[in-house]
Amino acid sequence: METDTIFKTKLDKSADFAFDAKVTKVFDDMVVRSVPFYLEVQRMIAEMAKDYAKPNTNIYDMGCSTGTTFINLDTVIAPSVGFAGIDSSSEMLAQCDLNLKSAGIKRKYNLIEADLNKSVRIENASVVVLCLTLQFVRPLKRSQLLQSIFQQLNPGGCIILFEKVLGESPEFNRQFIKYYYDYKRRNSYNEMEIAQKREALENVLIPYKLQENIEMLDGIGFHSIETYFKWYNFAGIVALK
Ligand SMILES: C[S@@+](CC[C@H](N)C(=O)[O-])C[C@H]1O[C@@H](n2cnc3c(N)ncnc32)[C@H](O)[C@@H]1O
Repeated sequence: METDTIFKTKLDKSADFAFDAKVTKVFDDMVVRSVPFYLEVQRMIAEMAKDYAKPNTNIYDMGCSTGTTFINLDTVIAPSVGFAGIDSSSEMLAQCDLNLKSAGIKRKYNLIEADLNKSVRIENASVVVLCLTLQFVRPLKRSQLLQSIFQQLNPGGCIILFEKVLGESPEFNRQFIKYYYDYKRRNSYNEMEIAQKREALENVLIPYKLQENIEMLDGIGFHSIETYFKWYNFAGIVALK
């Protein structure tokens, strides 16, 4: 796994963050150093998915990146369940394919290059995962995407989200961001790396409040909406159709 040094040197112009070849190469290191409890959340996603993935259906991972979620899911999910990964980054999908092959995944899987800002097609899905992905979908398109997932999800199907979120109050939002940057410092990101990445993500990663995400799911018709994880400005939500 290559170490993430993308923002370590002073960049001349600030460009928006992109899931390109450079990021793909270091993504697995970047995500564990940037997202608190990332590996535990992956384990929890697999644990929950196991209980809702029905035989002979599919699990969709939207924004599957390098395939970490599938690799975890493969250890607990029945072989008759297919995997479908959607991502708009061809570099990520190529890496995902390599990782799934080297993990020895034998089940049927399909990796699809598609933009979640546009319409999405899912087939025979009992579980849909969006782990750190909805936050990158344009705000105006988010509700439409969730609506489309709701309509196409099998009855009784499960949606599992994990998102960076804003605090409900400006006061604690500020504090949570401070604690979050301390987390990054503890993981050996320096001040310039933190500042440059924040700037690059500014127009790209747009977090909602946890409550806003819950209300969006509720308004669409999902039920049994639960917060399964919360750490300052990160939250996991699970819900059923
Ligand atoms: C932070 S990563 C997700 C991490 C991954 N789910 C995991 O658990 O390790 C976000 C992913 O969403 C993809 N993505 C961002 N915007 C997208 C869009 N509009 N359509 C499809 N994929 C998108 C990116 O290419 C990237 O691979």
